[in-house]
Amino acid sequence: MFSQKQTILAPMAGLSDRPFRRLCRSFGVDLAVSEMISAKGLVYGDRKSRVLLTPDKSDRPYWVQLFGSDPEIIREAAQIALQAGADLIDINMGCPVRKVVKTGAGAALLRDPQQAEAIMRALDRTPAIPYTIKIRSGWDAKQTILDLFIEMAGTHNAKALTCHPRTATMMFSGCADWRQLTDAAQNAALPVIGSGDLNDPQTAIEALARPGMAGVMLGRGSLGRPWIFREIRELLQKGIQWSPDAELKLKTILKHGDLLRDEYGEKTGLLLYRKHLAWYSKGLSGASAFRKNLFTLTSFSELESAINNLF
Ligand SMILES: Cc1cc2nc3c(=O)[nH]c(=O)nc-3n(C[C@H](O)[C@H](O)[C@H](O)COP(=O)(O)O)c2cc1C
Repeated sequence: MFSQKQTILAPMAGLSDRPFRRLCRSFGVDLAVSEMISAKGLVYGDRKSRVLLTPDKSDRPYWVQLFGSDPEIIREAAQIALQAGADLIDINMGCPVRKVVKTGAGAALLRDPQQAEAIMRALDRTPAIPYTIKIRSGWDAKQTILDLFIEMAGTHNAKALTCHPRTATMMFSGCADWRQLTDAAQNAALPVIGSGDLNDPQTAIEALARPGMAGVMLGRGSLGRPWIFREIRELLQKGIQWSPDAELKLKTILKHGDLLRDEYGEKTGLLLYRKHLAWYSKGLSGASAFRKNLFTLTSFSELESAINNLF
């Protein structure tokens, strides 16, 4: 699955949902990771977690991210995900959000390598579960765990490891430390994927060319720009600076609205669509008036006519 240099849509809670993954797939992203899903939620039958798990036929192979801290719960949740149609499970060991960390999950595992290893050991047990690991470069600047986690994941059966090379305490401040990641990736026994600050095609291609980098994962750079994956592909394969014309952009944005309405219904779909529209309108003339106006519009048809006007 990770044999070639690949572009990947990053897991983003509340954003890399089925509609957005489908849209990015239509622009040729190689792989996409689901929003994070609570392992406990799946095991205890939480409805919301089960809904998040529903596969989309355009999104294959289906890579589902789980978060949790208990190895047996994670193993059981992974089996539920596989039965529901997942092809690969990603374990979140990097989320720095307090709500997650205080349960011992996400980036808390960077401070507890033994627990992280116990999770890998549980997933390795027969029948083995295909899984990957996603980390940050450490909890804080005092403690770098990158080499340790790369070695651990390589020793166990993880298929790949993704790193967003910021520490957990940095949250999103400062810059992703690509040099540190490249140094660590070069001797890795498994494919290493890099994530962080790849906001334009050129930067993504440069990251992809770094030694030891099996793939690049884009998060924020794809918001309001799902076509960035095609931009990267065209530049990489043909040396062409492709970008969508206004007509394709408009078509994509309207399609996104349709997908959100189908997925969530009018009310929730509208709330989510407004958020994406703020990203889509960035940099366009008349965007700030459009964004101000967005929150006064209360139906999809009003939003659609405002979008048509903007374009
Ligand atoms: C709104 C938001 C939600 C995120 N949710 C998750 C998540 O659920 N799981 C995860 O592993 N990383 C999550 N991330 C981190 C991204 O996957 C990615 O590693 C990080 O944003 C760095 O990449 P970028 O600079 O391309 O955004 C999230 C990031 C953002 C901005």
